[in-house]
Amino acid sequence: MSRSASTNWYFAIVSGENAELARVEIEALLQMVDSKYKISWHERVAIIEGLQDPTDFLLQRAALLKEAGTIIFETDSLDGAALEIPDDLLKSCVGSDETFSIRTKSFLHGRTPETRRSIVVELGDKIQRTTGARVHLENPDIRVLVLVMSDRVLICMSKESQLRGQLRRRRPGKKPFFHPSMMNALLARTMCNLARVMPNETVLDPFCGGGGILCEIAYIGARPIGLELNWRLLKGASMNLASIQYSDYSLIQGDARCSPIRNCHHVVTDPPYGRASSTRGEKAGRLVTALFENAEETILPGGSMCTCHSSSMGVPEVIRQLGFEIENQIRFRVHSGLDREVITIDF
Ligand SMILES: C[S@@+](CC[C@H](N)C(=O)[O-])C[C@H]1O[C@@H](n2cnc3c(N)ncnc32)[C@H](O)[C@@H]1O
Repeated sequence: MSRSASTNWYFAIVSGENAELARVEIEALLQMVDSKYKISWHERVAIIEGLQDPTDFLLQRAALLKEAGTIIFETDSLDGAALEIPDDLLKSCVGSDETFSIRTKSFLHGRTPETRRSIVVELGDKIQRTTGARVHLENPDIRVLVLVMSDRVLICMSKESQLRGQLRRRRPGKKPFFHPSMMNALLARTMCNLARVMPNETVLDPFCGGGGILCEIAYIGARPIGLELNWRLLKGASMNLASIQYSDYSLIQGDARCSPIRNCHHVVTDPPYGRASSTRGEKAGRLVTALFENAEETILPGGSMCTCHSSSMGVPEVIRQLGFEIENQIRFRVHSGLDREVITIDF
């Protein structure tokens, strides 16, 4: 059985290094576009049904996304799949003056590469014959992706993420000011997305250090506010923000335990723990408790908080004792001695 997918079927493929975090990131971003999307996950592939095309927004925002696009056709077998696609459908997706490439990606174990090679040849021939478009493998206008899943084959128009490379180039060691406690751009961006930060919103990092998170808030087009005890790190954060030519920010030297900052849309932060960042003699657990105790005064109703910390700190218990509900809690391994946890709460 096969059917033509209408233009309201989309897909997103996330990276495998932290699949759970990646899924939650994609779902948070989709929620920002339209709360009515229906999403089903098949390993690292999200199949998204909805009225609005989320592809460009996902590619612009998602740190853990590899590629995304539109599903144009669905069939239950690779054999003869190319011949089943209606000519009109191909003509509406590929222009006669455009170039294209075809790739297959299989999530099916045991399928022979020959079958996948033959769909590339058959589909390539059919696209050239029906549309007049030419093959260009290195830099095509249109990237056709054949997704081979356990229960179906999806023919897609795909776009690859450019953001992943940009985030790699924005890692702490590449910034004008570096400190070992700085948050890497990939996780900072993911956390901003879990908090559902929108452009022009105000976002506080009350333990801002050298500004890893602040820079990602700025790249999203939101307004970063940084609070930090250490003056030298605060100056470093200012250098890092200045280097991305972003001026709409506030940096305040102060103590997060008695933060003067109010009316933020979101808090995105990683309180100090471990050897790289100092707590100035305070217990790390006490700093975290103070952060959540102050949250309702700091964050506007409808806002959110996303924090990252060592999973040995018992943060979920602190949050529940204070009467908040955890929206997401994702644990991941940094190295054999350290598991980290990302938690989001809605206000
Ligand atoms: C893990 S680092 C933060 C990294 C930073 N969020 C980033 O995005 O790069 C924790 C920071 O908290 C700061 N800090 C420690 N105690 C503090 C307090 N009571 N108030 C504010 N900042 C504090 C430390 O100086 C350190 O820079």
